[in-house]
Amino acid sequence: MIISAIAAVAENGVIGKDGKLPWNLPDDMKFFQRTTLNHYVISGRKSYESIPPRFRPLPGRTNVVVTHDKHYDSPGAIICHSLKEAVELARKADVKEVFLIGGGQLYKEAFDAGLVDRFYRTTVHAKPDGDTFFPEIGEGWKEVWSEKHKADERHPYAFTFAVLQK
Ligand SMILES: NC(=O)c1ccc[n+]([C@@H]2O[C@H](COP(=O)([O-])OP(=O)(O)OC[C@H]3O[C@@H](n4cnc5c(N)ncnc54)[C@H](OP(=O)(O)O)[C@@H]3O)[C@@H](O)[C@H]2O)c1
Repeated sequence: MIISAIAAVAENGVIGKDGKLPWNLPDDMKFFQRTTLNHYVISGRKSYESIPPRFRPLPGRTNVVVTHDKHYDSPGAIICHSLKEAVELARKADVKEVFLIGGGQLYKEAFDAGLVDRFYRTTVHAKPDGDTFFPEIGEGWKEVWSEKHKADERHPYAFTFAVLQK
Protein backbone atom coordinates (compact mmCIF):
# COMPACT_ATOMS: atom_id res chain seq x y z
CA MET A 1 0.00 0.00 0.00
CA ILE A 2 1.25 3.45 -0.92
CA ILE A 3 0.99 6.04 1.85
CA SER A 4 0.52 9.46 0.28
CA ALA A 5 0.35 12.93 1.75
CA ILE A 6 -1.47 15.72 -0.04
CA ALA A 7 -1.06 19.37 0.95
CA ALA A 8 -0.96 22.93 -0.32
CA VAL A 9 2.11 24.65 1.10
CA ALA A 10 3.05 28.31 0.79
CA GLU A 11 6.62 29.33 -0.04
CA ASN A 12 7.14 30.18 3.65
CA GLY A 13 5.82 26.79 4.78
CA VAL A 14 2.42 28.08 5.95
CA ILE A 15 -0.51 25.68 5.52
CA GLY A 16 -3.11 27.08 7.91
CA LYS A 17 -4.34 30.11 9.81
CA ASP A 18 -6.94 30.26 12.62
CA GLY A 19 -7.98 26.66 11.92
CA LYS A 20 -8.61 27.31 8.23
CA LEU A 21 -6.79 27.41 4.92
CA PRO A 22 -5.10 30.78 4.36
CA TRP A 23 -6.39 30.97 0.76
CA ASN A 24 -9.21 30.05 -1.55
CA LEU A 25 -7.84 28.29 -4.65
CA PRO A 26 -10.75 26.47 -6.34
CA ASP A 27 -8.62 24.63 -8.89
CA ASP A 28 -6.37 23.29 -6.15
CA MET A 29 -9.48 22.17 -4.28
CA LYS A 30 -10.61 20.38 -7.47
CA PHE A 31 -7.21 18.70 -7.74
CA PHE A 32 -7.59 17.55 -4.11
CA GLN A 33 -11.10 16.20 -4.78
CA ARG A 34 -10.04 14.41 -7.96
CA THR A 35 -6.91 12.90 -6.46
CA THR A 36 -8.48 11.62 -3.25
CA LEU A 37 -11.84 10.47 -4.66
CA ASN A 38 -12.66 6.80 -3.92
CA HIS A 39 -9.80 6.55 -1.44
CA TYR A 40 -9.31 6.40 2.31
CA VAL A 41 -8.47 9.89 3.63
CA ILE A 42 -6.91 10.24 7.09
CA SER A 43 -7.04 13.59 8.89
CA GLY A 44 -6.25 15.00 12.30
CA ARG A 45 -9.29 15.93 14.35
CA LYS A 46 -8.65 19.68 13.95
CA SER A 47 -8.44 19.54 10.16
CA TYR A 48 -11.54 17.38 9.99
CA GLU A 49 -13.48 19.88 12.07
CA SER A 50 -12.21 22.70 9.85
CA ILE A 51 -14.20 21.22 6.93
CA PRO A 52 -17.59 22.98 6.90
CA PRO A 53 -20.19 20.53 8.34
CA ARG A 54 -22.15 20.44 5.08
CA PHE A 55 -19.06 19.10 3.27
CA ARG A 56 -18.11 16.40 5.76
CA PRO A 57 -17.65 13.51 5.68
CA LEU A 58 -15.94 14.21 2.36
CA PRO A 59 -18.20 12.46 -0.17
CA GLY A 60 -16.98 9.46 -2.15
CA ARG A 61 -14.16 8.77 0.30
CA THR A 62 -13.72 6.76 3.48
CA ASN A 63 -13.11 9.47 6.07
CA VAL A 64 -10.82 8.44 8.93
CA VAL A 65 -10.27 10.90 11.78
CA VAL A 66 -7.48 10.61 14.32
CA THR A 67 -8.00 11.89 17.89
CA HIS A 68 -6.82 11.03 21.39
CA ASP A 69 -10.40 11.48 22.63
CA LYS A 70 -11.83 8.00 23.27
CA HIS A 71 -15.39 9.39 23.27
CA TYR A 72 -15.10 11.33 20.02
CA ASP A 73 -17.79 10.60 17.48
CA SER A 74 -18.62 12.13 14.13
CA PRO A 75 -21.37 10.63 11.96
CA GLY A 76 -20.05 9.09 8.77
CA ALA A 77 -16.40 9.08 9.85
CA ILE A 78 -14.30 6.23 11.22
CA ILE A 79 -12.50 7.28 14.40
CA CYS A 80 -8.97 6.06 15.22
CA HIS A 81 -6.79 6.88 18.19
CA SER A 82 -3.40 6.88 16.53
CA LEU A 83 -1.98 7.42 13.06
CA LYS A 84 -0.68 3.85 13.12
CA GLU A 85 -4.19 2.51 13.82
CA ALA A 86 -5.59 4.59 10.93
CA VAL A 87 -2.96 3.36 8.48
CA GLU A 88 -3.47 -0.25 9.56
CA LEU A 89 -7.21 0.12 9.01
CA ALA A 90 -6.58 1.08 5.38
CA ARG A 91 -4.02 -1.69 4.98
CA LYS A 92 -6.53 -4.27 6.25
CA ALA A 93 -9.09 -2.96 3.75
CA ASP A 94 -6.52 -3.86 1.09
CA VAL A 95 -6.49 -0.42 -0.55
CA LYS A 96 -3.68 0.45 -2.97
CA GLU A 97 -3.15 4.04 -1.79
CA VAL A 98 -4.18 5.93 1.35
CA PHE A 99 -4.10 9.72 1.71
CA LEU A 100 -2.97 11.76 4.69
CA ILE A 101 -4.83 15.03 4.27
CA GLY A 102 -3.53 17.05 7.23
CA GLY A 103 -3.03 19.01 9.16
CA GLY A 104 0.31 20.14 10.50
CA GLN A 105 0.49 17.71 13.41
CA LEU A 106 -0.53 14.70 11.37
CA TYR A 107 1.88 15.52 8.51
CA LYS A 108 4.73 16.02 10.98
CA GLU A 109 4.13 12.73 12.69
CA ALA A 110 3.96 10.89 9.37
CA PHE A 111 7.04 12.49 7.74
CA ASP A 112 9.11 12.25 10.94
CA ALA A 113 8.32 8.53 11.10
CA GLY A 114 9.29 8.07 7.44
CA LEU A 115 5.81 6.73 6.69
CA VAL A 116 5.14 8.73 3.52
CA ASP A 117 5.92 7.21 0.10
CA ARG A 118 4.39 9.84 -2.18
CA PHE A 119 3.71 13.55 -1.70
CA TYR A 120 1.18 15.50 -3.79
CA ARG A 121 2.41 19.01 -3.06
CA THR A 122 0.83 22.19 -4.29
CA THR A 123 3.31 25.02 -3.79
CA VAL A 124 1.37 28.24 -3.36
CA HIS A 125 3.48 31.13 -4.62
CA ALA A 126 2.80 33.44 -1.70
CA LYS A 127 4.08 34.12 1.82
CA PRO A 128 0.88 34.54 3.85
CA ASP A 129 0.60 34.92 7.61
CA GLY A 130 -0.24 31.68 9.33
CA ASP A 131 0.02 29.61 12.48
CA THR A 132 0.35 26.09 11.04
CA PHE A 133 3.37 24.99 9.02
CA PHE A 134 4.34 22.04 6.88
CA PRO A 135 7.14 19.95 8.45
CA GLU A 136 10.55 19.11 7.01
CA ILE A 137 10.14 16.22 4.58
CA GLY A 138 13.71 14.90 4.78
CA GLU A 139 15.99 13.67 2.02
CA GLY A 140 15.51 11.28 -0.88
CA TRP A 141 12.55 12.77 -2.76
CA LYS A 142 12.29 12.90 -6.53
CA GLU A 143 9.80 15.11 -8.38
CA VAL A 144 8.04 12.92 -10.95
CA TRP A 145 5.43 15.38 -12.25
CA SER A 146 4.61 19.07 -12.03
CA GLU A 147 2.23 21.57 -13.57
CA LYS A 148 1.95 25.32 -13.13
CA HIS A 149 -1.26 27.25 -12.57
CA LYS A 150 -1.32 31.01 -13.04
CA ALA A 151 -3.03 33.52 -10.77
CA ASP A 152 -6.29 34.73 -12.32
CA GLU A 153 -9.60 36.30 -11.34
CA ARG A 154 -10.53 33.19 -9.29
CA HIS A 155 -7.06 32.51 -7.89
CA PRO A 156 -5.26 35.31 -6.01
CA TYR A 157 -1.93 33.44 -6.16
CA ALA A 158 -0.16 31.32 -8.75
CA PHE A 159 0.60 27.75 -7.66
CA THR A 160 2.44 24.67 -8.87
CA PHE A 161 1.24 21.10 -8.51
CA ALA A 162 3.93 18.46 -8.05
CA VAL A 163 4.16 14.80 -7.20
CA LEU A 164 7.22 13.72 -5.23
CA GLN A 165 8.20 10.08 -4.80
CA LYS A 166 10.45 8.52 -2.22
N1 LIG B 1 -2.83 23.58 3.34
C1 LIG B 1 -3.24 22.33 3.46
O1 LIG B 1 -3.10 21.52 2.55
C2 LIG B 1 -3.92 21.90 4.72
C3 LIG B 1 -4.41 20.59 4.83
C4 LIG B 1 -5.04 20.22 6.01
C5 LIG B 1 -5.15 21.13 7.04
N2 LIG B 1 -4.66 22.38 6.89
C6 LIG B 1 -4.74 23.35 8.00
O2 LIG B 1 -4.01 22.86 9.11
C7 LIG B 1 -4.59 23.38 10.31
C8 LIG B 1 -4.88 22.24 11.25
O3 LIG B 1 -3.67 21.53 11.55
P1 LIG B 1 -3.21 21.22 13.05
O4 LIG B 1 -1.76 20.86 13.03
O5 LIG B 1 -3.62 22.35 13.92
O6 LIG B 1 -4.12 20.00 13.48
P2 LIG B 1 -4.39 18.55 12.83
O7 LIG B 1 -3.09 17.86 12.52
O8 LIG B 1 -5.40 18.65 11.77
O9 LIG B 1 -5.12 17.85 14.05
C9 LIG B 1 -4.44 17.70 15.27
C10 LIG B 1 -5.27 16.81 16.15
O10 LIG B 1 -5.33 15.51 15.57
C11 LIG B 1 -5.26 14.54 16.60
N3 LIG B 1 -4.03 13.78 16.44
C12 LIG B 1 -2.93 14.09 15.73
N4 LIG B 1 -2.01 13.11 15.82
C13 LIG B 1 -2.57 12.16 16.60
C14 LIG B 1 -2.14 10.89 17.06
N5 LIG B 1 -0.95 10.38 16.73
N6 LIG B 1 -2.95 10.16 17.85
C15 LIG B 1 -4.17 10.62 18.19
N7 LIG B 1 -4.64 11.84 17.77
C16 LIG B 1 -3.83 12.58 17.01
C17 LIG B 1 -5.32 15.29 17.91
O11 LIG B 1 -6.69 15.43 18.18
P3 LIG B 1 -7.29 15.59 19.67
O12 LIG B 1 -6.87 16.97 20.13
O13 LIG B 1 -8.77 15.45 19.47
O14 LIG B 1 -6.66 14.50 20.50
C18 LIG B 1 -4.69 16.62 17.53
O15 LIG B 1 -5.05 17.68 18.41
C19 LIG B 1 -5.84 24.15 9.87
O16 LIG B 1 -5.53 25.53 9.76
C20 LIG B 1 -6.14 23.57 8.51
O17 LIG B 1 -6.87 24.46 7.68
C21 LIG B 1 -4.05 22.77 5.76
